[in-house]
Amino acid sequence: MRIDIMTLFPDTVNAVLHESILGRAAKKGLIEINCVQIRDFTDNRQKQVDDYPYGGGWGCVMMAQPLKACLESILPDGKGPRTRVIYMSPQGRTFDQETARRLKNDYDRLILVCGHYEGIDERFIEECVDEEISIGDYVLTGGEIAAMAVTDAVCRLVPGVLSDEQCYTGESHWEGLLEYPQYTRPEVWENREVPEVLLQGDHEKIRKWRRKKQLERTMAKRPDLFSRFDPVSEEDLSLLREIEKDSRRMKLTLPLSYRPADAEDIPDILEIAEYARKDLKNHRVDQWQGPYPGRDIFEKDIERGECFIVKHGDETAGFFTLSVKEEEDYSGITDGKWSSDEPCCVLHRSAVAEKYRGTGISAFLMKCIEQQCALFGRRNIRTDTHRKNKAMQNLLRESGFSFRGNLTVSSEEGHDPSRQAFDKLLKQQEEKR
Ligand SMILES: C[S@@+](CC[C@H](N)C(=O)[O-])C[C@H]1O[C@@H](n2cnc3c(N)ncnc32)[C@H](O)[C@@H]1O
Repeated sequence: MRIDIMTLFPDTVNAVLHESILGRAAKKGLIEINCVQIRDFTDNRQKQVDDYPYGGGWGCVMMAQPLKACLESILPDGKGPRTRVIYMSPQGRTFDQETARRLKNDYDRLILVCGHYEGIDERFIEECVDEEISIGDYVLTGGEIAAMAVTDAVCRLVPGVLSDEQCYTGESHWEGLLEYPQYTRPEVWENREVPEVLLQGDHEKIRKWRRKKQLERTMAKRPDLFSRFDPVSEEDLSLLREIEKDSRRMKLTLPLSYRPADAEDIPDILEIAEYARKDLKNHRVDQWQGPYPGRDIFEKDIERGECFIVKHGDETAGFFTLSVKEEEDYSGITDGKWSSDEPCCVLHRSAVAEKYRGTGISAFLMKCIEQQCALFGRRNIRTDTHRKNKAMQNLLRESGFSFRGNLTVSSEEGHDPSRQAFDKLLKQQEEKR
């Protein structure tokens, strides 16, 4: 791709376009960017390029003669079919990714004409210009910034300019959507964490999460773009249903925190446990289907300082019991083994209040568990859940736990004692940085 820019400020434009990625691409011969001084083509001694507008009015208009002479010097043999002369103008069609793609695919050579002052003589546009392009509904003092924007957007699509085609095919505007959010190191910055899914290395999950974010943020940030997007794939339709469901969920707007539970929290904890019991029953999970865990259990958890409640503002949104005591049943793991023999914390019980289901509080609760484990001076968390408790298994996996094997726990008579074992080794603080 060769781009010639007709301008009164070739040094400025050259300096910008020969830096960085485009500069390197030009050195490799992948693109050629050539700035031409319009003033060199005047036929008057003063090298005057503009004059007063006929009919009166403010400012000056660039004359057609130097523009035409400049263009002829660029195209001494005339214009071939894959060459396009474009006037950068606030009256043109608004430039977008689709236009960048069209220009890159349909032409080998672009000549970008930069106006200045009040613009250029209309007869040059009629005589020589194929197309007018604007970079937005506002007026700049000259066409240089617009020409640089078009040059940059077109040239980065030329094969080899970027390291991989994927560098631009997944980006905002490529297929009518905005790009998903991006994160880089460190994992935690100003108490803000990188979404867990991006740290787990499950590429299919990451792809799906990113697609959902693309849909979600286009809808939120650019409803005009989204209204033109036509979702056809089954995946997009299903993600859109998920987004719709998410939007109806309660929003966490108040500060989130957790603290050790005390006796006064027991009614809240029992209410949450009761809801969890019913929910497990509805999902045909034979866990917590007897009197366990009852008041006596939570009283003992609280006494030992092992029960914690998660708060949304002043409201109790969930609880968990994390113990530093060995769990005897855990030595009988089968079909696998624990990740580490180092001392661990055991997550015994946890649940989220009914109105907080689906709000994202579970992920926060899991973070509290990790924080508390670190405060207990350990970095190894073990837990178990019923083999049919898919919700808990998913939450554990999403929170970075891995399935380690099967267990049989001492459960109440007549209830299924088989469990799946999960664990997570927390990263050392040094590794996190
Ligand atoms: C001050 S403008 C002239 C505006 C003109 N009098 C009008 O109202 O349409 C001077 C030059 O800046 C360039 N320019 C200004 N706004 C632009 C935009 N939004 N997109 C592309 N080029 C622009 C054009 O090359 C134009 O000739």
